[in-house]
Amino acid sequence: MISTRELTKTFEVSRTETVHAVRGISLTVEPGELVAVLGPNGAGKTTTLRMLTTLIAPTSGTAEVAGYDVVAEPSQVRRQIGYVGQGNGAGHSQRVADELAGQGVIYGLDRRAAKLRAEELLESLELKDLARRKVSELSGGQRRRLDVAMGLVHAPKLLFLDEPSTGLDPQNRANLWDHILRMRAQYEMTIVLTTHYLDEADSMAERVVVVDHGHVIADDTADALKASLAGDQLILTVAPSNHAAVRRLAGHLPGARDLAVDGDQFTVRVTHGPTALPILLGATHQLGVPVAAAQVHRPTLDDVFLNLTGRSLREAGTNGKAAA
Ligand SMILES: Nc1ncnc2c1ncn2[C@@H]1O[C@H](COP(=O)(O)OP(=O)(O)OP(=O)(O)O)[C@@H](O)[C@H]1O
Ligand SMILES: [Mg+2]
Repeated sequence: MISTRELTKTFEVSRTETVHAVRGISLTVEPGELVAVLGPNGAGKTTTLRMLTTLIAPTSGTAEVAGYDVVAEPSQVRRQIGYVGQGNGAGHSQRVADELAGQGVIYGLDRRAAKLRAEELLESLELKDLARRKVSELSGGQRRRLDVAMGLVHAPKLLFLDEPSTGLDPQNRANLWDHILRMRAQYEMTIVLTTHYLDEADSMAERVVVVDHGHVIADDTADALKASLAGDQLILTVAPSNHAAVRRLAGHLPGARDLAVDGDQFTVRVTHGPTALPILLGATHQLGVPVAAAQVHRPTLDDVFLNLTGRSLREAGTNGKAAA
């Protein structure tokens, strides 16, 4: 459904300043996949989506979307895709139903078909009661649902969602996801989305692509990324005088690495926490070392990012800039 090779975008901001927003992204997305693109602010996510949706031209590299080249065949690409931009702005006094039907007409449906399609989407995205409201009067969550409906008007094979749930409360986020997943099943869509919510990428996407400084730095299932790049962590509360003994014992656990102490907390990374913890506790017990508390910390996608970059994704505020 998507195939890019060394896709690159450079912005010449001024004579002295060049922004390397995307630096050679090669990516393949199969039909039916749900892929989450994850990365800190300025990583190049939106720029990548804008190239794939033909809104901006790549500086170099190639991209085929739904079988068409984004540079040579942009109108064919557009017919196959839906795009819900980051903070979409249909912010005017149109009524919800008219806004949606109007979008259908833009995409080449005749008025009657556009109206029917709008009704169908209002129904399935639970916007029916709001059909006569003005777009500018909707709440953030209702508005985002309308944005998603706008992206679906022409029944695209492929839907791009740029931070669909940003700014929504947990209830509305859950609702929106519910709708997106239902739409996906109903229309057999391929979905590529960006998000800052790690838990969302973790639970919803089958595949996570991590982008940093315009590069893809990881691409796999969330589980595989967590297993290979972070690993489980055991955290034991032990008196500092016993740390040396615990360290010796922990060193023998399968996959033991990153042994560290912080105050009376001893930590070690292992291949599989739930099996390693009882082994370690058995050994400390035999040696007569008292353990005040013990826990297994299973990694999150943030741990994966930290492991890859040395920065936390929650805190990374990089702007991806580099001198020309
Ligand atoms: N039109 C533009 N002109 C100049 N620089 C741009 C332009 N669009 C994006 N950039 C720069 O390119 C880099 C990547 O931006 P992009 O919007 O792709 O990031 P992002 O990963 O979507 O970030 P966020 O998570 O904040 O949405 C940033 O440094 C940004 O300032
Ligand atoms: Mg963005």
